Amino acid sequence: MPDILQTSHESPDYAIEQIIELPVLCLVGVLTGVFSDRDRKQRRDLQTTTSRLSEVYVELQQNFEQMKRAERMFAVGQLAAGLAHEIRNPLGSVAGAAGILQRNANLEPKHKECVEIINKESQRLNRLLTDFLDFARPRTPECQPIDVNALLDSVLKLAAHGIDMEGIHLRRDAGVPVPQIEGDPEMLEQMLLNLVMNAIQAMPGGGEIVVSAALHQGKLLIRVRDQGCGIDAALRDKIFDPFFTTKESGTGLGLPVAHQIVEQHGGILTAEPNPDAGMTFSVALPTTREVRR
Ligand SMILES: Nc1ncnc2c1ncn2[C@@H]1O[C@H](COP(=O)(O)OP(=O)(O)OP(=O)(O)O)[C@@H](O)[C@H]1O
Ligand SMILES: [Mg+2]
Repeated sequence: MPDILQTSHESPDYAIEQIIELPVLCLVGVLTGVFSDRDRKQRRDLQTTTSRLSEVYVELQQNFEQMKRAERMFAVGQLAAGLAHEIRNPLGSVAGAAGILQRNANLEPKHKECVEIINKESQRLNRLLTDFLDFARPRTPECQPIDVNALLDSVLKLAAHGIDMEGIHLRRDAGVPVPQIEGDPEMLEQMLLNLVMNAIQAMPGGGEIVVSAALHQGKLLIRVRDQGCGIDAALRDKIFDPFFTTKESGTGLGLPVAHQIVEQHGGILTAEPNPDAGMTFSVALPTTREVRR
């Protein structure tokens, strides 16, 4: 600027030109700064978008792999279910033939023992196949109004029949009035029976099992509380996995089937350790129809 002022005495036209050029140069400088700033920002944005896109691509690929695996698992499941169904018929014939042999009074003790083994093992296999088919090919619930008290009474009666009840006290908690629910009585009975049988099997030394029903936050809450061995914290996540069992003759399908039935009725099945001993399994069911196919 001092240079321009000095020149203005010698060549006024040139000085005016310089004065006009000055703001233009400043403007060009500012604009260049703004554009390069914007350029840098755009490049940063582009980099972020590119790395986000690659992350999404990896996620997409993983999901695709998972989908393919799930599809394969589904196909294997269907195949296994078909196989289980086909094995059941010849197994029935084997059990029937063993039954005929068992009725033969002249059987040698050694042969009698063999026939008993065939009978016992075919029964075990039949139970495994039935449980597996219940799990792999669940039927759609056929809903009707259910009297909850009658349902619980029937479950307790069935459980009491099926086991040696020595040392085990099975009782209903003093009933509070609960509303009727909509559901498939046979499926719900099977689900509760699985829970009660587990409770019984968890108390080889005896104890008390209490089954209760109450209305809680608009849901019907059925609880099965035992005083048994409980479940290790590390194993609690696994108990609903198919084929997880800690029992010598267990199939590990009782809880997955129960869980599935509860879900089909729009409910939730949970397991909690009791503060003193044993476990409480809770089933929260909607009081109105919420059946899932
Ligand atoms: N009330 C309970 N107390 C302690 N452990 C339990 C209880 N209920 C379930 N479990 C554990 O969860 C496992 C899985 O139970 P689930 O009913 O699915 O199979 P299972 O009883 O072993 O065999 P299945 O029911 O097919 O005869 C059991 O083996 C047992 O270890
Ligand atoms: Mg079981």
